[in-house]
Amino acid sequence: MVDHDNRRDGVTRARDLTSGANMDGIAASGFPILARTDFSDTTFLLEIYHPTMARAARPGQFVILIAHDHGERIPLTIADFDPAKGTITLVIQAVGKTTREMQRDFRKGGNILGMVGPMGEPSHISEAKKVICVGGGLGVAPIFPQARGFKQAGAYVIGVVGFRSSDLIFWEDKFRQVCDEFMICTDDGSAGLKGLVTEGIEAAIARHPDIDEVVAIGPPIMMKACAEATRPHKIKTIVSLNPIMVDGTGMCGGCRVRVGGRIKFACVDGPDFDGHDVDFDDLMTRLQRFKEDERMALEKWSENCRRLALEPSQTGEKGGS
Ligand SMILES: Cc1cc2nc3c(=O)[nH]c(=O)nc-3n(C[C@H](O)[C@H](O)[C@H](O)COP(=O)(O)OP(=O)(O)OC[C@H]3O[C@@H](n4cnc5c(N)ncnc54)[C@H](O)[C@@H]3O)c2cc1C
Ligand code: FES
Repeated sequence: MVDHDNRRDGVTRARDLTSGANMDGIAASGFPILARTDFSDTTFLLEIYHPTMARAARPGQFVILIAHDHGERIPLTIADFDPAKGTITLVIQAVGKTTREMQRDFRKGGNILGMVGPMGEPSHISEAKKVICVGGGLGVAPIFPQARGFKQAGAYVIGVVGFRSSDLIFWEDKFRQVCDEFMICTDDGSAGLKGLVTEGIEAAIARHPDIDEVVAIGPPIMMKACAEATRPHKIKTIVSLNPIMVDGTGMCGGCRVRVGGRIKFACVDGPDFDGHDVDFDDLMTRLQRFKEDERMALEKWSENCRRLALEPSQTGEKGGS
């Protein structure tokens, strides 16, 4: 049986899994990347061989990943997992230093130095008969295992996904296989319904007055809007929070969020919470805390990349591919 109590177990797992050596005999050099797909200029998918993690993973859980020896730890949702193939799938948006470095360096055949997980409480796949699964932007990837989980549990699943424009759309086929109804919303109207996912939610509620539950994953501002859209209808709404995380085991306090007036740690108490109780303004303020450091780290890294690309012979190093 998988022990999901990360507060107690996370450190042990960190020790076991971060080294890259595990029960499946994977070499100590890391976890092999079996496939990479680029969805757009900024978003890419990695399929990683990790049989233990693939067996243990549940919808809603995440990994803490270290790309290389000098890398920082970053949390990424397990967007899919396949116990038969022994793989987990991550979908990554290159937004800052670490994720851009990963976008540049991680290729099929390469290795990821370390991964800890699965972390966090698995999403509760309730006995809801009719659910709307909402994904916005990068939230489209993590909502997929939940949509599949509800479908497997016998629910009528309405998928609503939102992108800025049609060129950013991914996984449409995958969603259509697990959704009874599927709606794409684009900000510019280049595909599907022109408008935000909240308009998709309103349209679905108008057609189905018997929705039991809404699950929404995406940027905090989107999840806040989804929770406000369902509040007047009194529809239970679950969101997945993405505060800054460091250890992911409930010890550093970095991921504290305010839910129902109480402090919770998203890494061990979540990341899923009741959207009607979440203090999204507090979350958004906390996410801004390190903006200047993040900007400086990216600037420094980009400058180094430019320098190495221009002067490979002087530095003795190769430029980025
Ligand atoms: C539970 C959880 C699941 C996530 N799943 C995904 C996913 O599947 N795909 C994906 O692309 N991103 C995901 N993220 C966000 C991802 O962790 C950040 O984009 C990443 O850490 C950015 O690092 P950076 O160095 O590239 O950018 P930075 O410039 O350092 O940061 C860019 C922005 O990312 C956020 N961020 C930075 N560091 C962290 C951190 N340690 N923990 C959380 N957020 C951070 C902040 O909002 C920051 O402003 C998830 C975050 C959480 C908490
Ligand atoms: S990431 Fe440290 S307590 Fe949650």
